[in-house]
Amino acid sequence: MKTSSYAMARMLGTWQDGAGPAHQRLSDRLRLLVLDGRLSLGAVLPSERDLATALRISRTTVGAAYRTLVEDGYLATRARTRATVRLPDDAPSGRRAAGPEAPAGPAAVDLSIAAPPAPVEILHAAFATALEQLPRHLERHGYDRYGTAELREAVAAWYERRGLPTSPDRILITNGAQHAVALLARALLSPRDRVLIEHPTYPHAIKAFTEARARLLPVSVVPSGWDVAQFRAAGRTAQLAYLIPDFHNPTGMCMPTEVRGRLGLSCPTVIDETLTDLALDGGPSPVPYATLTPAPLPTVISVGSVSKSIWGGLRIGWIRAVPSLLRRVEQIRPATDLGTPVVEQLATAVLLSAGQTRRPGALARLATQRDVLRQALAEHLPEVHAPRAAGGVTLWATFPEPLTSRLAAVAPDHGVVIAAGPRFGIGGAFERNIRLPFTLPADQLSEGVRRLAQAVRALNQGGTGTHTPAPVA
Ligand SMILES: Cc1ncc(COP(=O)(O)O)c(C=O)c1O
Repeated sequence: MKTSSYAMARMLGTWQDGAGPAHQRLSDRLRLLVLDGRLSLGAVLPSERDLATALRISRTTVGAAYRTLVEDGYLATRARTRATVRLPDDAPSGRRAAGPEAPAGPAAVDLSIAAPPAPVEILHAAFATALEQLPRHLERHGYDRYGTAELREAVAAWYERRGLPTSPDRILITNGAQHAVALLARALLSPRDRVLIEHPTYPHAIKAFTEARARLLPVSVVPSGWDVAQFRAAGRTAQLAYLIPDFHNPTGMCMPTEVRGRLGLSCPTVIDETLTDLALDGGPSPVPYATLTPAPLPTVISVGSVSKSIWGGLRIGWIRAVPSLLRRVEQIRPATDLGTPVVEQLATAVLLSAGQTRRPGALARLATQRDVLRQALAEHLPEVHAPRAAGGVTLWATFPEPLTSRLAAVAPDHGVVIAAGPRFGIGGAFERNIRLPFTLPADQLSEGVRRLAQAVRALNQGGTGTHTPAPVA
C-alpha cells in the first residue's frame, strides 16, 4: 500500500525534536513507526523528493535517513521502485530489532498491558460447574456461531439488570470484544467508508477499521469531555461511529448521562462496553448508551466483554444488535473462525449470572492501585499530569514535552515497558502522552514509575533505544 508524503508527514509528527543530526532523527522516527506497526510491512514510502517537500527539508536529509533504514534492514529498495517497509530479522547485516522475546529483561515491569490478573478461586469454581454442565453439549457438534444458549441468556440478563431490555436472540457471542469489533467492521464497512472515532481511542479498534480499509474521522476527547456539537457534525458524514463512553480507554473518562442523551449520532454507532463494570470509588455503573438513543435514530450496536471485569484469558465477548445484523455477522464469521469454545462460554455464563463482573474487592483493589500509581507519578515524575480515572484500568498521562515514542524505545533498557501515546491515535498525535494501566500490584506500579523516571532522565541526556514497542491490550 502506498503512503502519501502528506500522510507520512502527519505520522512523523514531532520527529524534529531531540538531539543528533536531522537525518538520524528522521530515520529513528521512521524505524519507530515500523516497529510500532503504524507503518505496516510492505508499505510503499513516498519518494525522497516528495517526502522532502512535505517535510520542508532537503532531499539529502531524507536520502540519508532512507539509506540508514536500508542498511539496518527496515527498508527494501530495488532499481526504479519505491522503498518498501520490511523487518530486519533475516537481514544479512545491520542492527536487529529486539523481538517480543527480548523487549526487556525478565524482571521488566510491563506497563503496556491494561488487564487485571484472574480471580483464581472464582474462576476455578465456575469451570467446575461448567464441566458438570458440559455433557448436555457433547451430543452436538460444538460449532455454534451465535454462542451457547446459556451464555446468550446470561448476557441478555446482564443488560436487563442494567435497565436495557434484551432477549437472547439479540446476542451473538464472540472471542472477546476485539473480535466483535473486527466482525462488525467487516460486516458494516466498505472500502473508503468513514468511521468516527474518539481521539484518542483503543488502538486495536483503529486496526480493525483500517484493516477494513475505512477512513478514520477522529474527534477529540479532551479532559472536559465529549464535545456534542463536534461529534454530531462528524456523525453526519460518517457511515459508522465507534465510541467507548464507559471508562474510555485510554483516558478512563465516563461520558455523563446528559451528554449521552444529547449525542444522538445520525450514523450507526458501535458502543464498546468492555469497561462498563469497572466503576471505581463505589460509583454507579454508567447508564447504557443504548437506552438514551431516541427511536428514529440509526442503530446502536453494543459490544461487551468479560476481559477486564473477570479475565482476558477467557476470551469471551459479545455483540448486542438486531437479529438481522447478527445474521450478517454470523454469515461472515466462518472466514476467520467457527465459534467460541463451549467450556469457556459455560463458565462465563456461571460468572455473569452470579454478578461476578462487579466484585467489590477487585474494584477496591483497582482503586487503591490507581491512587498508588498517581502518588508514584507525583513523586518521581511531578511534571507529568495524570487525571484521576473514574473507572476502567488506565490513566492517560501527559508529559510537558513530545517524547513518548522515543521514551517507549528507551524504557525497556531501564526495566519498564510502556505504550506510547501515538498508538492511541492517528497521524502522529499524542506524542506527549502515555497510557498507564493500574492493573499490576501496587509495589510493581511504584517501581515501574521509578524506572520510567530513570528512562526519562536518560532520554533527556541523549539516549536512544532500539526496542520493539510492546503489544497493547
Ligand atoms: C475498549 C476496549 N475494547 C476492546 C478491548 C479488547 O477486549 P477483549 O480482550 O475482550 O478482546 C479492550 C481491551 O483492552 C478495550 O479496552
